[in-house]
Amino acid sequence: MKNVLVMGSFVADLAFRAARLPAWGETLMGSSFALGPGGKGSNQAVACARAGAKTQFFSKLGDDAFGKIARELWATDGIDASLVGTADVPTGAATIMIDQARGENAIIVVPGACFTLTPAEVSASAAAIRSASVFLTQLELPLDTVERGLQIARDAGVPTILNPAPAPERPLPDSLIALSDYFVPNETEAALLTGMPVENVEQAKAAAIELQRRGVRNVILTLGAKGALVQQADGSSTVIAAFNAGPVVETTGAGDAFCGGFAAALAEGSDLLSAVRFGCATAGISVTRPGTAPSMPHRKEIDELIK
Ligand code: RIB
Repeated sequence: MKNVLVMGSFVADLAFRAARLPAWGETLMGSSFALGPGGKGSNQAVACARAGAKTQFFSKLGDDAFGKIARELWATDGIDASLVGTADVPTGAATIMIDQARGENAIIVVPGACFTLTPAEVSASAAAIRSASVFLTQLELPLDTVERGLQIARDAGVPTILNPAPAPERPLPDSLIALSDYFVPNETEAALLTGMPVENVEQAKAAAIELQRRGVRNVILTLGAKGALVQQADGSSTVIAAFNAGPVVETTGAGDAFCGGFAAALAEGSDLLSAVRFGCATAGISVTRPGTAPSMPHRKEIDELIK
């Protein structure tokens, strides 16, 4: 079976729901709280495994209660965590505030232990990266660590997916983004990375072409409820429509669901447009449920939505 290696973060998500977000200086009574597994890397690994791919996760955890949540999750979902090391700093956490009326969120993430993963440690695990069918990573790790992983995969001819999330504070070097065969930003990330407005499909296409000019091969620009724009290396562009799987409960983790589903489909040998469609279906189901990792659907549900 083809395997996906996901390199990225695990943090514990502390999710607070309220009728609206508080203003600065305001204390607001909320309606619910949940503590659960999160982190973009781990969320994507969970989505990928539940979508049916043999999945390996590469990160670091603290030796603490949040780290235990991670290991239990990965064991339940059959994710190979043999590459996950232990750091001498605590596992990170994210505070997620969810506006119930709009289904939107605001997040602060402190990556903690996973942010101690070094380029040298990535090099030490090069054999695992080289033997993967697909390599998937994001930006909740140090940039030089991300770059080392992508470079090892690229040198070995392993297809690379870079999800540039969270949106970088400073422009990413072209040398880094050019290591991605599939670059998967959302509208906000694409706008920040290119300095161009990304508010409609035409603008998304222009931003995707700019990213290709900087060295990316294929751009999959996720458009939320509008689906995803696929700007292929051959210059063709296609919009894949989003799937409506029911009322939206929470959009947190939708991008992670997309990336995990997309990577699983690519590893199975799907063509690019079919893999993007599969990713859209995965995300479409995840937004109908609360939480991040817990909201990721299983293969049977995705297949039922697609057919
Ligand atoms: O993409 C959603 C994730 O971003 C959350 O799980 C949170 O941990 C942050 O990393």
